[in-house]
Amino acid sequence: MSAQEPIGVIGAGWVGLVTATCFAELGHEVHCRDIVAEKVETLRNGRVPIHEPGLNELIERNRERLHFTTEMGDVLSNAHLLFCCVDTPPTYSGDADLSRVETVVSEIGDSTDHAIVMKSTVPVGTGRAITREREGFGYISNPEFLKEGTAVEDFMHPDRVVVGASAESQGFADRVAALYEPLGGAIVRTDVASAEMIKLASNAFLATKISFINEIANVSEELGADVSEVARGMGLDSRIGPQFLRAGIGYGGSCFPKDVSALKQLAGNSGYHFQLLTAVIEVNELQKRRTIGKLQKHLGSLVNKEIALLGVAFKPDTDDVREAPALVLAARLQGEGAHVRVYDPIALERAREMLTGSTICDSALEAVDGADAVVLVTEWSEFRDLDWDLVRERMANPVVLDGRNFLDADALRAAGFTYEGVGR
Ligand code: UDX
Repeated sequence: MSAQEPIGVIGAGWVGLVTATCFAELGHEVHCRDIVAEKVETLRNGRVPIHEPGLNELIERNRERLHFTTEMGDVLSNAHLLFCCVDTPPTYSGDADLSRVETVVSEIGDSTDHAIVMKSTVPVGTGRAITREREGFGYISNPEFLKEGTAVEDFMHPDRVVVGASAESQGFADRVAALYEPLGGAIVRTDVASAEMIKLASNAFLATKISFINEIANVSEELGADVSEVARGMGLDSRIGPQFLRAGIGYGGSCFPKDVSALKQLAGNSGYHFQLLTAVIEVNELQKRRTIGKLQKHLGSLVNKEIALLGVAFKPDTDDVREAPALVLAARLQGEGAHVRVYDPIALERAREMLTGSTICDSALEAVDGADAVVLVTEWSEFRDLDWDLVRERMANPVVLDGRNFLDADALRAAGFTYEGVGR
């Protein structure tokens, strides 16, 4: 047993597994509980059910400190700080579904020796609602800011760690803050509601940056500017910064769409109409519709046209397809009467059920075979390295829409393609 504080992790999904593994790497005994018995079995056997660079190696290295269980009792008897990492998916109205969080809270009961450390993204006010009826219940808001694909790196080298607690939970908050001290990032100690808001506001702001640059891209197309040049020039202003200014087909993933609509909905429920976020969401939707419009501009009617979508994952280096633009595009293209052929290096398995009606291909070359147009949706590096001369030979019609401004426009045009990016 290590001398360091043992940790409990509830929910062995992507956030939970990364959290559990990184704390084990920092020397803590970690007791991780998931209700899905097969997942726990898989993890006990040393297999990792998700794709996240570096995670397999870290789990392997820390196997003796990582304990997986289906029983909450195992966690409660071994650890006092319980990191809640269950998911909070959006409901139809855009509110977050807190049923899993509520189950975890009820399983902890009245214990005053334990504290919930909330990593799941929850609406502002959740902490207060949970603690209102429970005197002495330890509650810390400790939102995660991990990016898929670099989650281990992000955990180990945080820009900041947010620890929100009420006056009664300061003792637990000190213990949570101490866990992160070895990592060296700024530790923001604050109240629970502000901590909850920091998470939603951060994601909403990043999404706003993306929708902003996407609108600049659309206007640039009309006015003859190149959005990549514009973003480069803007990003050098230290008040703006270069990140999240890549124009494209729109943001997706498990966080941005969900958190932006949750914040908008939360504001609405409190009587405030969040105009800016309404526009951010709309711009993101319109980017996909605009892509269809560009295809129609080049091909006329899309009825019976063969369209190849390269990339299904919402971004490269992940097999996550939640809110992936490719899924929306595939459905809309089919609605226009097109035949859709899709390829992704690793995400097809997860996407298969959501791609009914599309032809799933084993390689990019298979997808482009006979295609009237290619749409690059996800910037996997293998797409840049394709033999584009061969692609042109295989295609019926050499139209390339680069939804991520990822390919070499000049080289493709020189190779005989009709190339169109986003805002350049
Ligand atoms: C995001 C946040 O970055 C992270 O802090 C939070 O905890 C979870 O949500 P992630 O969903 O992994 O992380 O993806 P991220 O790399 O941030 O990209 C989100 C989406 O925005 C992707 O679809 C990406 O393609 C898109 N994006 C990003 C752009 O379109 N342009 C950009 O300039 C940056």
